[in-house]
Amino acid sequence: MMEPKIIHKLDLVINEVKKKTGINIQNFKHAFLERRILYRMRNLGISDYDEYLKLISTSFDEAKSLYAIFSINVTKFFRDPHVWKKLEQDIVPELLNKTRFSPIRAWSCGSASGEESHSISILLNESLHGHRFGYQVYATDISIDAIDHAKKGIYQNENLINVSTQRLNTYFEKSLEGTYQVTPQIGKQIEYEVVDMMKISGKLFDIIFCRNVLIYYNKETHEQIFKKFANVLKKDGILVLGQDESMIGTDGDNFFDLIYPKERIYKKIL
Ligand SMILES: C[S@@+](CC[C@H](N)C(=O)[O-])C[C@H]1O[C@@H](n2cnc3c(N)ncnc32)[C@H](O)[C@@H]1O
Repeated sequence: MMEPKIIHKLDLVINEVKKKTGINIQNFKHAFLERRILYRMRNLGISDYDEYLKLISTSFDEAKSLYAIFSINVTKFFRDPHVWKKLEQDIVPELLNKTRFSPIRAWSCGSASGEESHSISILLNESLHGHRFGYQVYATDISIDAIDHAKKGIYQNENLINVSTQRLNTYFEKSLEGTYQVTPQIGKQIEYEVVDMMKISGKLFDIIFCRNVLIYYNKETHEQIFKKFANVLKKDGILVLGQDESMIGTDGDNFFDLIYPKERIYKKIL
């Protein structure tokens, strides 16, 4: 159990981040925020919370640096390969069967540096081969740096371990320095936006990927976001969560059926 005094101080840090970066981290799990603040203080050699508060209240750069370590954007191409196999073998063919004329619309929510959105684009590019209609990927993140990276589409070997040699040769160009850049054929299908997932409305998708984003948020926020996803998904739309995420303990199952538990793939009810 946390002391009330610490909660108050945490609120002050949350306010400073909001004032200086415009980003609201109030809904992040507080235990997670505290762990990261202590980690940051240790890195700076600061052991006193008040001293850290003084620093963050006077330094825009510190608020930005602190926020950067909250938004952990660790990711990879085709993260959890068994999920992508299920998408390729069952989910996407089913979407194609029911979407006869309009393009398939996918949303990569919390796309980080773009590995997920590019994986979606590769998957849909391959699956739609020979079909007359196309696809669009909408990729969003709250981190400007992550979206800038995604737009460049340049990656190191370690992010590509799940990419087959055939895909590497087809969809990437290798530079002299040994990095890999996604080809324009794959990149041009993706629209990027720096935006908080809670602010998205007025759009309609066939499939949403929100993987390894909700782990940082509290249950109340999960409920709000599941409702939002249900609103922006078409009939029978698909939601893919991360391997450590679920709707257990929320009212998400009013809106979704868990159709592939191992892969954390849900289908909108109605
Ligand atoms: C661990 S990464 C996950 C990347 C990718 N989805 C994957 O599974 O590999 C989490 C990303 O979610 C983003 N994020 C966190 N809260 C967000 C929000 N409210 N709206 C949009 N993106 C958010 C972070 O900036 C970070 O880039």
